[in-house]
This record gives sequence, structure tokens and C-alpha cells, in this order.
Amino acid sequence: MHSDLSLIKNSAFKGIFSLVGLAAVNFLLLPGICLLDLSDVSNAEPSVPVSEDNNAEILLLVWRYRGRNPCDCWENFRISGCTITEDRSMYHKADAVLMWHRDQIISRVKEAPLPPEPRPPAQKWIWLNFESPTHVQRLWKFEGIYNLTLNYREDSDIFLPYGYLIPNVLLDKVPQARFAKKLNSSLDPRPGFVAWVVSHWHISLERVQFYNLLKDYIKIDLFGRAGTTILPPGKDSVVEMLKQYRFYLAFENSQHTDYITEKLWNAVQGGAIPVVLGPSRKNYERFLPPEAFIHVDDFPTVQELAQYLRKVKDSPSLIQMHLSWRKDYSVYMTLWSGESYCTACKAVRMRKGKTDVVKNLTAWFYS
Ligand SMILES: *[C@@H]1O[C@H](CO)[C@@H](O)[C@H](O)[C@H]1NC(C)=O
Ligand SMILES: *[C@@H]1O[C@H](CO)[C@@H](O)[C@H](O)[C@H]1NC(C)=O
Ligand SMILES: *[C@@H]1O[C@H](CO)[C@@H](O)[C@H](O)[C@H]1NC(C)=O
Repeated sequence: MHSDLSLIKNSAFKGIFSLVGLAAVNFLLLPGICLLDLSDVSNAEPSVPVSEDNNAEILLLVWRYRGRNPCDCWENFRISGCTITEDRSMYHKADAVLMWHRDQIISRVKEAPLPPEPRPPAQKWIWLNFESPTHVQRLWKFEGIYNLTLNYREDSDIFLPYGYLIPNVLLDKVPQARFAKKLNSSLDPRPGFVAWVVSHWHISLERVQFYNLLKDYIKIDLFGRAGTTILPPGKDSVVEMLKQYRFYLAFENSQHTDYITEKLWNAVQGGAIPVVLGPSRKNYERFLPPEAFIHVDDFPTVQELAQYLRKVKDSPSLIQMHLSWRKDYSVYMTLWSGESYCTACKAVRMRKGKTDVVKNLTAWFYS
């Protein structure tokens, strides 16, 4: 990799958005990369309820409910015909049962009970998880029971990333758009240089080791429980703080395929250029234009990364190179529980009458 990112060509970035727009059951709908073509998007989400045979009512039982109110899938996401319940007495009528992996493991020694077997013949069990493989426990114990996976990995059966970019030209075409935020492309100077928010500090973590190297070359302001400044509670406080900074260290807690979390999207929302540590640059480029972030692997040494950050700070043209893409995009943050349930419901309807088996959950998720 060149240490001067101005050499990055502006690739034909299309983003992950259209995959999400098509939502659900990727193994069915995804003949390779062609669906990245955004022209498909306008057809993907009908703005009226879908045709009749596709419109079967679906009852989705969330085995342990999270989130305050059952989500209105039509109102929020233009997904019709979904009833979402946490009432276990509906088990025998449910088309699908959705289980959060974390709730199946209530402690290190005891698992919460699964739904009873035998299950109704057409019922699908869905594995729901947004933690990285490093923080998922005892997956092997749940091998051979699920029909569909719902996860941040693009190759899940039902794909739901932490966030994604929506091109502004398509904002009037997707129901999610009203929850999306237009990005500010201001190039104004910022008082802060590099910020990092860290709540869990352990020297064995790669991100902590990287920080320890980087701080010898540049000044980094630390926030969060393990930092010097505690941020006020509330999820917007990180974004507000980042509006004062040029760079944010968006370091993931572990490095895995597609595991790109709100750390990245907070930086994007705050207009700080993300310096990322996580999966490969190529993996990030599926979610963001190549110049929209700086990858720690872009530089042979930590010192050269530090030099580059200093250079950008003092160069209006480099700042512009890293930020000008923002004028064309909005960012959408997934609305966790409600959106998972509605997206799952839609997938179940599309797979009604078909048999699905998750072959080897452990091998897949850890690959
Ligand atoms: C964009 O950011 C600039 C500088 O930080 C600010 O002055 C401006 O009000 C922002 N614009 C919007 C639309 O938020
Ligand atoms: C769901 O998965 C189970 C376990 O692999 C399988 O026996 C069953 O046929 C599947 N059902 C459907 C409706 O896909
Ligand atoms: C799943 O794959 C892993 C690793 O490839 C293997 O060790 C395990 O036996 C497989 N499990 C099942 C149920 O096939």
C-alpha cells in the first residue's frame, strides 16, 4: 500500500446499501456482485403491499423479546403482513421463532431453554446475533437446529449490518430514508486532532497495543470509561464530541469479516475521518468509498501513519480528498430490534413452504 492515500483512485463505489435494500435471504437473491447495481433498488422495495400470494400473514415469535414496543413493520419499513409477538402460547402457530444468541446463554454455566421439540413442521428457527465471533460463546451447542441466520455478515441468510450509506439521489426511494442523516461535507478547520473512545482497556487487545504505539508519535485525546474524559450518557454524545475532531480511531474490539460497528458510523456521522482497525481495507471498501477512511494497514509502520495524519491535518487539499464524498451520501444506522424482527419476517415470507437448513453454523461464523 502507498503511504500517500491521494493515490487511491475513486473507485466505482456503490456500497452495501442495495443489498440491504433488497433485504433478506441472500442465498436466494444474490447471484454475485450484480445486485450491487443501484439501479435495482427502485424495484426492490415496493411502496405498496406486495402482491397477494406473496402477502401471506406471517407470525414471528421472538423467543425472548428485546425492545419496548412491538415494531410496526409497515409503518417503519414498508414490510407488510407481519405480526411479531413474544407470547410463547403462540408457539404452535408461529411461522418462525427468532432467538438472540446472547439470550440463549444466560450465564457461563446455564443455557436458557430452547423452544420445545418437535417443532411445527413448517416453522423456521432463526439465529440472531450481532456480536463478533470472539465474543460469541458455545455456538457449537446450537448446531443443527437453525433454519436461517440473521447477522451483520453479508453472507448471512438475512443480512443486517450496523449501518450503511445511502446515496442521496435514492433517498426518496427507500422507506429507511427518513431515519437517515445527510452527511455534512464542511471542510472547516476543527479544534481537535485525534480522538479515541475506549471503555474496555486490556493490554492484550490489538487496539490497545496499537494505541500505545501511536501515542508516541501524535497526541490522542482519550474519552470513555478507560479514558481521561467521561462523555455524558446517550448515544449521540460520541457523535457530538467527534464534530470537534479531524480523526477518530474506529478500532473494533476484534477483527472479523464484515464486523464493522457503530464505531465507524459514529465517526462518519461526526465528520471525523475514521482511522480503522478491523477487517481488511477491501472489506471496508464494500461499505465506504476508499478515500473515506484511513486503514492502519495502509502504512508499513505506525510512525508513517502518524506522519500522514499530521500531513492531512495541515493540508486543505487532503482534507478535501477525504471528505468531499460526503456531499452525496446519507448514513443510516440500523434500528436494532424492531428492524431485525421485521427483516426476519420478510425473509420468512419469501421462504414460506421451502426447507432451509443452516449447515454448519460454527464453521461458517468463525470463517
Ligand atoms: C456543517 O458543519 C459546519 C462546520 O462544522 C457547520 O457550521 C454547519 O452548520 C453544518 N451544517 C449543517 C447542515 O449541519
Ligand atoms: C428447519 O431445520 C430443521 C433442523 O435442521 C429441519 O429438520 C427442518 O426441516 C427445517 N424446517 C424448515 C421449514 O426449513
Ligand atoms: C462443523 O465444522 C467444524 C469445522 O470445520 C467441524 O469440526 C464440525 O465437526 C462440523 N460440525 C458439524 C455438526 O458438521
